[in-house]
Amino acid sequence: MEHRLLGKTGLQVPVVGMGTWITFDVRGKAALENARAVVDTAFAAGANFFDSSPMYGQAEYVLSEVLRGRRDKALIATKVWAQSASEGRAQVERALALFDQYIDLYQIHNLVLWQVHLPMLEQLRDAGQVHAIGATHYSSSYFGELQRVMRTGRITAIQIPYNPLQREVEREILPLAAELGLGVVVMRPFAEGDLMRRTPSKADLAPLQPFGVTTWAQALLKWILSDPRCHVAIPATRNPGRISENAAAGEPPWFGPDERALVARLAVRRR
Ligand SMILES: NC(=O)c1ccc[n+]([C@@H]2O[C@H](COP(=O)([O-])OP(=O)(O)OC[C@H]3O[C@@H](n4cnc5c(N)ncnc54)[C@H](OP(=O)(O)O)[C@@H]3O)[C@@H](O)[C@H]2O)c1
Repeated sequence: MEHRLLGKTGLQVPVVGMGTWITFDVRGKAALENARAVVDTAFAAGANFFDSSPMYGQAEYVLSEVLRGRRDKALIATKVWAQSASEGRAQVERALALFDQYIDLYQIHNLVLWQVHLPMLEQLRDAGQVHAIGATHYSSSYFGELQRVMRTGRITAIQIPYNPLQREVEREILPLAAELGLGVVVMRPFAEGDLMRRTPSKADLAPLQPFGVTTWAQALLKWILSDPRCHVAIPATRNPGRISENAAAGEPPWFGPDERALVARLAVRRR
């Protein structure tokens, strides 16, 4: 697995990590054991960057349970998503308790009340309990506000959606992140699974075989990661086998413009 410097956060991250929205919002013994198998496979593949949020129901808790005894081998990116300072403080205290009093990347989820939560996260960073601070948004209608937060100089990473059907970040967000030296975490690499509903044929993917790509999921991840402004993609899955498949896309050689154009064409054509 290739590692990249997550911009000014200073964190070295595997280029393929893992999201936990929906997939880790689970209850019961069997579901917990499945989550453990997913995380075991992620570790084995070197995909030890895990993204979560208090917005994802049980996900933070389930992730912490299956990381018990090995939290130090993981990079935890979680979020504050709160409508008041006191709710934000309670979320942070809970997450710190779940993850051995340390969070690698603390993000402000969907920019909710960022002016209020940012000073709290800065205090925790100064106290050594948070390594880096970031901000996320899934919607291009908030990219103007995201740019304002990026320009404050108070965050060192962003999390944004990027896939061949959602390319709005190419216009202003990725150039600005590169100019400011910010880390870029890519959410929704498969457009929440929409890109996986119909997949191109093996013959369509044949030109990508010299790049180590044998599946559509790998083509999409490699499409993202071939842009050096993107540092880590975080596909979510409940399926341990798919973790290995996705992680295998985290190795060079990277696509050039022709391969990226092919993947973009295939993504649009299959709609
Ligand atoms: N505002 C925010 O900050 C924000 C918003 C959205 C998402 N996120 C983060 O980004 C993460 C990823 O985004 P996402 O979960 O929305 O969507 P995604 O990763 O684009 O897609 C997830 C879907 O892809 C399927 N999948 C995964 N690997 C596959 C493979 N190899 N082959 C076929 N299907 C595969 C999964 O189904 P199976 O389980 O059946 O494999 C799942 O339904 C989230 O989990 C979350 O951590 C953050």
